[in-house]
Amino acid sequence: METIHVDVKNVLNTVSLDTINSLDAKAASAMEKLHNGTGAGNDFLGWLNLPSSTTAEVLDEIEQAAAVLRANCEYVVCIGIGGSYLGAKAVIEALSDSFAAYKPAKGPKVLFAGQNIGEDYLYELQSLLKDKKFGIIVISKSGTTTEPAIAFRILKEMLEKQAGKAEAAKLTIAITDAKKGALRTLATEEGYKTFVIPDNVGGRFSVLTPVGLLPIAVAGLDIKQLVAGAAAMETATATDDNIAITYAKTRNALYQAGKKIEILVNYNPKLHYVSEWWKQLYGESEGKEHKGIFPASVDNSTDLHSMGQWIQDGERSIFETVISVAKQQHETIIPTDDANLDGLNFLAGKHVDEVNKMAELGTTIAHVDGDVPNIHITIPALTEFWLGQLLYFFEKACGVSGYILGVNPFNQPGVEAYKRNMFALLDKPGYEAESKAIREKINK
Ligand code: PA5
Repeated sequence: METIHVDVKNVLNTVSLDTINSLDAKAASAMEKLHNGTGAGNDFLGWLNLPSSTTAEVLDEIEQAAAVLRANCEYVVCIGIGGSYLGAKAVIEALSDSFAAYKPAKGPKVLFAGQNIGEDYLYELQSLLKDKKFGIIVISKSGTTTEPAIAFRILKEMLEKQAGKAEAAKLTIAITDAKKGALRTLATEEGYKTFVIPDNVGGRFSVLTPVGLLPIAVAGLDIKQLVAGAAAMETATATDDNIAITYAKTRNALYQAGKKIEILVNYNPKLHYVSEWWKQLYGESEGKEHKGIFPASVDNSTDLHSMGQWIQDGERSIFETVISVAKQQHETIIPTDDANLDGLNFLAGKHVDEVNKMAELGTTIAHVDGDVPNIHITIPALTEFWLGQLLYFFEKACGVSGYILGVNPFNQPGVEAYKRNMFALLDKPGYEAESKAIREKINK
């Protein structure tokens, strides 16, 4: 049967199976904490049963809201940062035509804003949207995050000027906390359609809530299949021995053996943002108390020509986790060339993916020989169903892995530090003491 596989044979030069399995008791305890809610951060376990508890009615409501935007907009701008944008971006990039931005489409083009504070980015976005029919999905769990709030303020004003206040309200959907936060208050006052981010689901675990599902549906993708895939993985990883536990134990064993950096590797350019999503998931969940594997990523074979040297020959503190897509969606065959000046006729008639797979295998062998342990994850194809499985697999493994590591995987106390300094430097009311202190520090 087709399924997602996790193969750890290429780590065994560094850590033995016995070493990996010495983490069995910790993994069992992690599973107990997740399933019975007895661990740190247990008020943020809503993601665990989200796929199986998401009803057809909920998905219908999301699809109906998406249909309104699809029918009325040339562009839909998703405003959010971190967990409030990376899941949607990852799925849309993975499942869309690589050149969708340059091709005519049946529905609106989905754009992102509020994930940076780029003045030129926002200027150029506005110049694209000028006199165009556009809608906004504004996403913020707290409702107070600066980056999306700035972008929303700018685009809200623009939409109201272009479409009129009443129409703008119809074309704006807010996804936020059920009751609290500035965005909830604004949405109520303006009469926006809203969706709720459940209290017990943190940002980086929210891709299977409306946070991810609404933008994904607006992009014309099948959210029911995505959730069905996740639900299948929810069942598959509820057992005592499953691939999420294997991955969690193996990466912790490697970490304990001195492999402090994990590089998520893909051989498919569509997976770039899956890696970005994964980096937030693991970085924010595990990087605390001066512990945690540093999550990095490369897109191969592109990055073999930039990072390949370091990975093959640099400090031996890394391991790789490869996501390999077994079957491609389309066929491209390498042609014969009579002149054969490039000497590539030995590849004529082959699928491009056959070459890619040999690049992957050759690289894996070279890296393993070079003391870079390799975890190999195979996903049958890039479809909604399999991607749903992959996302949930990584979420479940993250919860198990964080508890094995001995941290609370569901908080993120470290992300507040930059915000305090930024507000102090910008003289935000209420930050007077911090403003004074930070200026003294700078001027010392
Ligand atoms: O994972 C997290 O909790 C964070 O990355 C948040 O998703 C991010 O900071 C955005 O927060 P909010 O949705 O409250 O605007």
